[in-house]
Amino acid sequence: MSTLNYIGLDEKSSKNTTAKLNDLLANLQVFYTNVRGFHWDIEGKLFFTLHAKFEELYDDLAEKIDEVAERILMLGEKPVNAFSEYLKVSEIKEVSGVKCGKEAIQHILNHFKIIIVKERIILNITDEANDTATNDLISSFIDKQEKLVWMYNAFLTNSCETK
Ligand SMILES: [Fe+2]
Repeated sequence: MSTLNYIGLDEKSSKNTTAKLNDLLANLQVFYTNVRGFHWDIEGKLFFTLHAKFEELYDDLAEKIDEVAERILMLGEKPVNAFSEYLKVSEIKEVSGVKCGKEAIQHILNHFKIIIVKERIILNITDEANDTATNDLISSFIDKQEKLVWMYNAFLTNSCETK
């Protein structure tokens, strides 16, 4: 029997939510892979700082990826796990070979913008569907991501050594 029969959520609304969660999952997976590349490829004076910061970020993204996938399962659907499928739907595109810290951080901020917009849409639809668990999960993501955006943006604004 579907878990939806036990948790009392509307099937049609939940299918809409899981479609959006699978889209978020695809974007998070490409984001994760891009940040792993930044971690590996970064060079220069800020290597030690950014190498460590990017590791923190991809570890955090990996946790979120798992939480999104497991929430899709709780809602009775399958999380997509083929990278070829992620690349077809992800608005975040693959980025590789970035050696400059400022460039990597600009990509990260652009990726966050895409992710946070998608998450706000999920907040709206889960609010309407009374899906408080998904709503709380995505709210907790946005809380942390807004803080990261502030910090990465501050870093970018203050690294003026090339000006
Ligand atoms: Fe590493």
